[in-house]
Amino acid sequence: MRTRPLKVALLGCGVVGSEVARIMTTHADDLAARIGAPVELAGVAVRRPSKVRAGIDPDLVTTDATALVKRGDIDVVVEVIGGIEPARSLITTAFEHGASVVSANKALLAQDGAALHALAEEHKRDLYYEAAVAGAIPLIRPLRESLAGDKVNRVLGIVNGTTNFILDKMDSTGAGYQEALDEATALGYAEADPTADVEGFDAAAKAAILAGIAFHTRVRLDDVYREGMTEVTAADFASAKNMGCTIKLLAICERAADGESVTARVHPAMIPLSHPLASVRGAYNAVFVESDAAGQLMFYGPGAGGAPTASAVLGDLVAVCRNKIGGATGPGDSAYTQLPVSPMGEVVTRYHISLDVADKPGVLAQVATVFAEHGVSIDTVRQHGRQDGDGEASLVVVTHRASDASLGGTVEALRSLDTVRGVASIMRVEGE
Ligand code: HSE
Repeated sequence: MRTRPLKVALLGCGVVGSEVARIMTTHADDLAARIGAPVELAGVAVRRPSKVRAGIDPDLVTTDATALVKRGDIDVVVEVIGGIEPARSLITTAFEHGASVVSANKALLAQDGAALHALAEEHKRDLYYEAAVAGAIPLIRPLRESLAGDKVNRVLGIVNGTTNFILDKMDSTGAGYQEALDEATALGYAEADPTADVEGFDAAAKAAILAGIAFHTRVRLDDVYREGMTEVTAADFASAKNMGCTIKLLAICERAADGESVTARVHPAMIPLSHPLASVRGAYNAVFVESDAAGQLMFYGPGAGGAPTASAVLGDLVAVCRNKIGGATGPGDSAYTQLPVSPMGEVVTRYHISLDVADKPGVLAQVATVFAEHGVSIDTVRQHGRQDGDGEASLVVVTHRASDASLGGTVEALRSLDTVRGVASIMRVEGE
């Protein structure tokens, strides 16, 4: 074992950073044995230096993150501050001053991954970010390395624990969205401002990263279609149950059937209870990968939290340190396929549409005609007359596979019918 330690600069010492520091200290001997050299915490950049941080030498703490990454003797910078700036500038500076980088920053990787990878390559350094998607779950390296010889066609994931907790609560208790959100907030699963989670921004950033790696192409955050889950109702869950389904907020990355393009999207969807993702409960994450040779794989585990996320960071740290000692770098960016990202209108899937209609002769035929005129084939139809005798009925139509654009045209035409009093919900059906 070499005796000169590898020096690590830790940027951020919050929930994740403090766990990274703790594990580096408590597992120091094991880490050194696995790497082949000791790893030493050489500096910790924080915003509030006066805060007491158990187990961290106060002499290592600094508020000058830029000076820390510019030191020149740092081997690896671990960035766990999140957000775009100052993280981007600090990572850039780290590469320019000879360090490799381990980051947990999904927003930055989704937005500027290409530029950061290019910079890492220019400086012959590593950029690892296992913790950026689905916390502790090994996913980036399995996709980037273990499946490098296979062809991934589809990635279907529950990559946001907050929303999975809320949807699971709605499913198991019959609660409405607000009630389930309130419980998630009280239990600390949802943040005071849950927008990034419930509106799907967090999952969209993860989808962009996953799609880029899975399909060896460039997928930017703006390429990801996004719908949040705030409109999902208890009635939607009742409909899902009738179909033998539940509802999940899914990140879906797909290669088109002709292999010439890809799509990436985040939205709530019904999935059959028989699908492995349906059994992912509470705040857990899981990602289902379909590839040519391996077939179907599922990765499951805690997608957030200090220690689980630190586990992924430490795994990257060990890999990057091993590369450094071996005088090599790990696999870099791979976007050689340059596949275009198709718009949502070209996505093909099934739909569950719930309509409030007039309960009188000819209405079902009229509705069916609208579907036919837009090339959308109906799989099943269920109608329930209302007991209150108001002359209305609920009509639930489940389609065969159709493009999102065709379905959009169908719904627009349905809304213009006098006999369609309202479109109560539209939900995609996935995982079949
Ligand atoms: N807020 C995320 C979640 C964790 O609820 O899963 C960090 O990406």
